[in-house]
Amino acid sequence: MALRPHGITRLGYIHIALHGRDMNETRAFYCDVFGLLETKSSSLDRLMFKCWHESAPFSLVIENSMRPGLVEIGFEVADETELDLLSKKLSEHSAKPEPSSSNATLPGLGQSVSAQIPGGLKLRLYASLTETPSYVTGMVSPDWVTPRDLRATPAPLFLNHVGVTVPRPKETTDFLCSTLGFFESERIESDDHRNLLSALLFRSVKDVGGQELAIFQGEGGLLHHIAFTKEDFSDILIDAQYLRQERTRLDPLGPTRQSYGKTFSLYFFDPNGVRLELCSGGRYPEPHPEFKPVIWTEAHLKKALSFYDAEVPPGFLDPCL
Ligand SMILES: [Fe+2]
Repeated sequence: MALRPHGITRLGYIHIALHGRDMNETRAFYCDVFGLLETKSSSLDRLMFKCWHESAPFSLVIENSMRPGLVEIGFEVADETELDLLSKKLSEHSAKPEPSSSNATLPGLGQSVSAQIPGGLKLRLYASLTETPSYVTGMVSPDWVTPRDLRATPAPLFLNHVGVTVPRPKETTDFLCSTLGFFESERIESDDHRNLLSALLFRSVKDVGGQELAIFQGEGGLLHHIAFTKEDFSDILIDAQYLRQERTRLDPLGPTRQSYGKTFSLYFFDPNGVRLELCSGGRYPEPHPEFKPVIWTEAHLKKALSFYDAEVPPGFLDPCL
């Protein structure tokens, strides 16, 4: 018998907006170079993608808008009762939840509640999708083989986490842990331990766990990166070749063992400068009361961000959108 889930159960999707960018080029990058599946796009003004190993209808939404930026982060919750409970908690903490009906914000999304949280981030919680989740490889006796059209691309398995910047990481982290039940798996503190500079937070225990939100100190509500899961670090090295052959800009950091989060990671950019990550490995989180975060100090920032690189490249911690 499965345990009854409660609260937020998983990171569902990332929704970003671009302005004045070539959406045809964007679609070509995500489908033909990165290896996602286009799903519920209604036009070039709103592209929707999923990974081939995801059963939900979308995990990445890219919109053409006059207001570029990180639009919102979607989290699925256990059921409607839990959605009501979390909505009440948001109200009690002055986050002013706003309800939306099914399909009102995104096609395929059930009833939802959005809220601005400390740090300038907008979250959306939802309890259901309007269609039955299904894998492209089928739900009955699947082969679990990368679809033919996606081979020779990274074709990641699923959305892993999103990196964001906020002015006061402690305030944002405290809110997410106390109000929405997140756990903290790792953190970076100032050398005197007085200031929290970054934190990795999670709700679901999954392959490549320990982070669904990576919070960094910076300007409020901006995107740092969007990360996707690969099974194995050696795949990521091959993927770097595929990306470079398509003239994708790789970040000067890595590919590397990223000690902070315990992943093997490759960072690169889509044609619009959106920073993406492929990662494998990770800390295995255990959300029991004795679970404690790994603590890094600023003096060890270089080792935290890359076990291999001699220096952290300038700009690596800057937001991208
Ligand atoms: Fe990351």
